[in-house]
Amino acid sequence: MGYRQRSRMRPAVKLTQLAKRAGCAAKAPPGTLFPLLAALPRSTDANVLIGNATADDAAVYRLDDERALVLTTDFFTPIVDDPYTFGQIAAANALSDVYAMGGRPLTALNLVGLPDALPVEALGEILRGGAEKCREAGIEIVGGHTIRGEEPIYGLSVTGLVHPARVVSNAGARPGDALVLTKSIGTGIITTAAKQGRDDEGAIEAAIAGMTALNDGACAAMLEVGVHACTDVTGFGLLGHLRNLLVASGAAAAIDADAVPTLPSVHRYAEAGLVPGGTRGTHRFLADWVDWGALPEACQLVLADAQTSGGLLIAVAAERAARLIETLVGRGASVAAVIGEVQAGQGRAGRMTVRA
Ligand code: CO
Ligand code: CO
Repeated sequence: MGYRQRSRMRPAVKLTQLAKRAGCAAKAPPGTLFPLLAALPRSTDANVLIGNATADDAAVYRLDDERALVLTTDFFTPIVDDPYTFGQIAAANALSDVYAMGGRPLTALNLVGLPDALPVEALGEILRGGAEKCREAGIEIVGGHTIRGEEPIYGLSVTGLVHPARVVSNAGARPGDALVLTKSIGTGIITTAAKQGRDDEGAIEAAIAGMTALNDGACAAMLEVGVHACTDVTGFGLLGHLRNLLVASGAAAAIDADAVPTLPSVHRYAEAGLVPGGTRGTHRFLADWVDWGALPEACQLVLADAQTSGGLLIAVAAERAARLIETLVGRGASVAAVIGEVQAGQGRAGRMTVRA
């Protein structure tokens, strides 16, 4: 009996059933992580242009006057059942941190956790998804490391390049800037619904289209127009990552809840309680930072929802916002929306007001 026949007879393993938490919702909560990171010794190497002090997307290490390395890693447990798609999403997500710094990826390394319950063919498909997504980004995966573990894990360590004077950090937002988002949110809620067999509206297709999309075009658009700050929206949700950007920038912000692009069915699923634990954790963390106004709790949870491979969140001078939107659309961003504005941070850096 040939291999093909055997593998067809094998009962399909549902990848997400092998994982307790899905995608970036498996990220350790910010409330746990930040005090630990703050207690570590600060970098004294003058070539470390960006280290772990500002919760930025990637580290930036200056090589010379023209070149700096962008260094980042991201890996997580399955967020979808199809192994090839999981590989694509994990790779797009890891590459995104380089794009969020205004960098260009150069190479990547695979990071793999392999449980006994995962058929080796499925691992092959995960790796193929990652490799093809990297090829789409114009780079190759040049090595990696695999360990046996309880749950499937996949991700990349990515090395990129940026001009030291053209780094887009998360620390440059200025009062009056427009905040622009380049993908719809809600992937944590939708993948949770799908995992529980309750995605009765089939929203997972739109979520997958978003999660597999590279942020390369959005990066090119922001470099072309010139922006003040950027981060990508992943496990801490839209407002969790906005909070990090605002703290790093010493600024505050107002968000228009209605202007935030969301995936189909997200609000309905949130109202039905289909919300990942990571999202609830971030929502609790945000209580000290967000004035929710009259916004219903389900809508609050959407704004806190743990994203996997989310879009770029960009702070741009108000007078350049229209051009940025135009350029993003021209470069193929699925979404390009002004969702609020940066405000002065005196005494309230990191605070957010949500206008319902
Ligand atoms: Co990031
Ligand atoms: Co990341």
